[in-house]
Amino acid sequence: MAPTPKALLVSDLVSSENIEQIPSNYIRPISERPNLQDVYDDTIPLIDLHHLSGPNRAHVVNQIGEACRNYGFFQVKNHGVPESTIANMIEIAREFFKLPEEEKLKTYSDDPTQTTRLSTSFNIRTEKVANWRDFLRLHCYPVQDYIHEWPDSPEGFRARIAEYCQSTCGLALQLSEAISESLGLDKDYINNNQLGKHGQHMALNYYPPCPQPDLTYGLPGHKDSNLITILLQDEVPGLQVQRNGHWVAVSPVPNTFIINIGDQVQVMSNDKYKSILHRAVVNCDKERISIPTFYCPSRDAMIGPASELVTSDEPAVYQQFTYGEYYDVLEQRTCNRE
Ligand code: OGA
Ligand code: NI
Repeated sequence: MAPTPKALLVSDLVSSENIEQIPSNYIRPISERPNLQDVYDDTIPLIDLHHLSGPNRAHVVNQIGEACRNYGFFQVKNHGVPESTIANMIEIAREFFKLPEEEKLKTYSDDPTQTTRLSTSFNIRTEKVANWRDFLRLHCYPVQDYIHEWPDSPEGFRARIAEYCQSTCGLALQLSEAISESLGLDKDYINNNQLGKHGQHMALNYYPPCPQPDLTYGLPGHKDSNLITILLQDEVPGLQVQRNGHWVAVSPVPNTFIINIGDQVQVMSNDKYKSILHRAVVNCDKERISIPTFYCPSRDAMIGPASELVTSDEPAVYQQFTYGEYYDVLEQRTCNRE
């Protein structure tokens, strides 16, 4: 029999004892386990955003459109977020998860409606099998509404997060403009029509080393429910993206971000672009940090296919709904937590 966990967070479980077997509540049934050997030899496009401002904008917009249509995922370089901001963000996230258990637990909550909370797994109130992940979720737009809720240790935590999320907010805006244009819509289409007052959330994901990575997940396959996700990962691989029924591993490239289309862009594009299944696997040797920024509509935002993309040949695939309605249904199904 595998031991029962003594710690609430996986990071504390791993640091408190030298475990050789994972506790039974992390073990997936055989049919649901990741097959770590069976990774498809493919990659997602890497797009240089340098020419997004300038005479070659249309070319970059085209590349983004192609990537959204064919993959739902792409990487970006020359994105305007300074290298030091990225390095500081990863460093402070690592330090946060190294804090003593009692310090971290000050922010712990299993209530998904909390705007700042540390938790573990996915949704521990509802799921049957736990995941090998701890995470800190933060609402971060507008920063001044939330910054006082964020943990204030390690030292400098709030300032670094604020700097990072203001910088990625600029990138999210550029991407939403380019994605609108790539669909033949006005560049402000997403920002004016799909966002409402706009929200931005972040997660700091921490995946400790795992003695039996073939029995469990960091995060099982899911789609992101928001508009656009900007994922930062450290140098340790773990993200896998579904493509033609296979799992493709996304190797980390320093100072790039991974961008993916969420469910709301799928709806707005009337299924021209698809929100793609992705997951995080863990490994025996190395901890891994990943930091997704979720660019979302506000709860009252009206979402629906852009009327320009609805024709008699391609009728609307979705009816209009508010993001709040969508989110509540998802929450009940617990298939995502954005
Ligand atoms: C997520 C996610 C992937 C990763 O948090 O929604 O997909 O690599 N994370 O951690
Ligand atoms: Ni995701």
